[in-house]
Amino acid sequence: ARITLRQLLDHAADHGYAVPAFNMSNMEQGLAIMAAADRTGAPVILQASRGARAYANDVVLAKLIDALVEIYPHIPVCMHLDHGNNLATCVTAIQHGFTSVMMDGSLKEDGSTPADYAYNVAVTKAVVDMAHAAGVSVEGELGVLGSLETGMGDQEDGHGATEKLSHDQLLTDPEEAERFVAETGVDALAVAMGTSHGAYKFSRQPDGDVLAMDVIEAIHKRLPNTHLVMHGSSSVPEALRVLINEFGGDIKPTWGVPLEEIRRGIQHGVRKVNIDTDLRLAATSAIRKTLVSAPAEFDPRKYLKPAMDAMAAQCIEKFEAFGTAGQA
Ligand code: G3H
Ligand code: 13P
Ligand code: NA
Ligand code: ZN
Repeated sequence: ARITLRQLLDHAADHGYAVPAFNMSNMEQGLAIMAAADRTGAPVILQASRGARAYANDVVLAKLIDALVEIYPHIPVCMHLDHGNNLATCVTAIQHGFTSVMMDGSLKEDGSTPADYAYNVAVTKAVVDMAHAAGVSVEGELGVLGSLETGMGDQEDGHGATEKLSHDQLLTDPEEAERFVAETGVDALAVAMGTSHGAYKFSRQPDGDVLAMDVIEAIHKRLPNTHLVMHGSSSVPEALRVLINEFGGDIKPTWGVPLEEIRRGIQHGVRKVNIDTDLRLAATSAIRKTLVSAPAEFDPRKYLKPAMDAMAAQCIEKFEAFGTAGQA
């Protein structure tokens, strides 16, 4: 059944777990995520970015979610808009059956530069007023995702920051977070602590200098009842990188967010963990392997089925690591 983000994360907070939010833009991802949820008894957050909506078409996405909910009636499903950039995008998501929207006012509407606090509050508050009237939850974001190693803001999701950002801009300020939640009424808050979108997050195994999990602890102390969200939280498994490269790919050495760090976040209020890259890597590794190993094959199902299995394996790992398994 369909469920709002607020309902789902309230349950997660009561029971001390987090829900991975998997990005989705096609049927294979949807079927793989739901098969993994069914296998482990986990509730699900499916999220679509603006790019995913443009790729799949809103009507196709809406009917696909209907189908997934009908196939698995016993699994709670939250359909969430990832990184909405204005009120209109959030409205059209709701019109297509989304039960939750993210208004990312941490960046300006065109994504180019960090927005100021007043803009973020105003646009997020407007979305909260509209969405709550429709029974839909809202995620906001305070602080800019990006690398503490390079000072560069996030480049992977269209937010092509060109200027170097200060440490302060790349880390959510706990006191400002408390004000932001009070002024906007968001149901969940995405915070910045050194993660970034995509495969290239850290140039080495991250320590506290580049992955500032203590910021999450400080925010949770001030906002014990606010559901915190970690973006850019793929683990970027080395085994998948090696497999992709073994079969003709070219992914440079890189590190993601270790599962232990996410588990530490879950002990301090993190309830939603965004994951896109790990499923992309899983699918690509399986497709490359199949095409290279069986060059005479040309039925897409022959490589898409292994891709689905590889994505489902990633989902199962997260459901188990975050305590989501068994909570449906
Ligand atoms: O926020 C970033 C997500 O990984 C979605 O990426 O905009 O390429 O669909 P996308
Ligand atoms: P990854 O690129 O680490 O998977 O993060 C996805 C994300 O944060 C989507 O909003
Ligand atoms: Na999101
Ligand atoms: Zn994100």
